[in-house]
Amino acid sequence: MSTRTDTTTLPTATREIQLASRPHGRPLPENFRLAGTELPVLQDGQILVRNLFMSVDPYMRGRMNDVKSYSAPFSLDAALDGGAVGEVIASRSADRQVGDAVVHSLGWREHAVLDAGATTPARTDLAPAPAFLGALGMTGLTAYAGLLKVAGFKAGEVVFVSGAAGAVGSLVGQIAKALGASRVIGSAGSPEKVARLLELGFDAAFDYHDGPVAGQLAAAAGDRGIDVYFDNVGGEHLEAALSALTVGGRVAMCGAISQYNSTEPTPAPRNLMQAIGKQLTLKGFLVSGYWQHMPEFVETMSGWLADGTVRYDETIVDGLENAPQAFMDLLDGANTGKMLVRL
Ligand SMILES: NC(=O)c1ccc[n+]([C@@H]2O[C@H](COP(=O)([O-])OP(=O)(O)OC[C@H]3O[C@@H](n4cnc5c(N)ncnc54)[C@H](OP(=O)(O)O)[C@@H]3O)[C@@H](O)[C@H]2O)c1
Repeated sequence: MSTRTDTTTLPTATREIQLASRPHGRPLPENFRLAGTELPVLQDGQILVRNLFMSVDPYMRGRMNDVKSYSAPFSLDAALDGGAVGEVIASRSADRQVGDAVVHSLGWREHAVLDAGATTPARTDLAPAPAFLGALGMTGLTAYAGLLKVAGFKAGEVVFVSGAAGAVGSLVGQIAKALGASRVIGSAGSPEKVARLLELGFDAAFDYHDGPVAGQLAAAAGDRGIDVYFDNVGGEHLEAALSALTVGGRVAMCGAISQYNSTEPTPAPRNLMQAIGKQLTLKGFLVSGYWQHMPEFVETMSGWLADGTVRYDETIVDGLENAPQAFMDLLDGANTGKMLVRL
């Protein structure tokens, strides 16, 4: 047990971002509120964490709606939550010591009081702490499990990934290359992102603003087509991929960010019927269903990071007060790699 003896230096209050109102369509600054709040007194088994980085993630947009979903909606006038990494600054648990780096789910605030058991150690011997919100955390596992366990990728196959310059997508492409993909194609939203994908080892990449996705994908894939589509975007991208997939192709349905701000039902892919003739498999997944692969994933990915097989980008915004803007910018594509807020 390592409670700090000099408690006079420990904070008794902190700042947090609350949901002030529910967005309709695109989130706006007025949907968020920066608030001060008292910190509860530590109970047995609890720790006080100074958050160093917090994650903003596309799934949080869904939680801002008051609808039943796989993840409970955020409450109005209460702090948002989400992935964070920080340093333990007081502990009433034998399991976490002052100075430990921990990952937990009470982001959107500068300090968090929580049960030690609700945190996992950040293995900073493997990578800097923020990597545990990205390449070595939930984001990385999503890429790894989606490609290998959901889509059943095999060496020699052609992979297409959308949102390819983002946190998940950039890892998907590099993992596929590391494991012997014959061709990896990525789509992203700017010429700079396309250039970055080629630097990261993608064989082909295109900007989806440059013309219909179907035509650009067909040109990149050639007659061979694609075997696996890792879908981060939905909509036009999914429709284009269905046309480009070969017989027996698989789609890992990871996200549909092109539709997260939609206020009306969005059309289904008009060519869904192709799934029959080509005997395609379309499988939606949540990373939470693949958590048991985390140890295997961390071991494999940390090796790839160490030898340079996989590289990751981070877009870092400073200050809790800028977290709402960072989240809005994420939905607008301002990030390359993982979008993080340094607190
Ligand atoms: N199933 C799961 O368990 C799970 C877990 C984690 C993430 N996800 C999903 O995976 C996807 C990627 O998440 P991430 O954390 O890695 O975020 P990210 O890709 O780092 O950031 C989101 C990106 O989406 C792109 N985007 C925004 N609007 C778009 C549109 N209309 N069309 C195409 N691209 C658009 C933007 O890049 P551009 O500049 O390229 O447009 C933006 O940078 C999201 O759909 C997310 O919901 C799912």
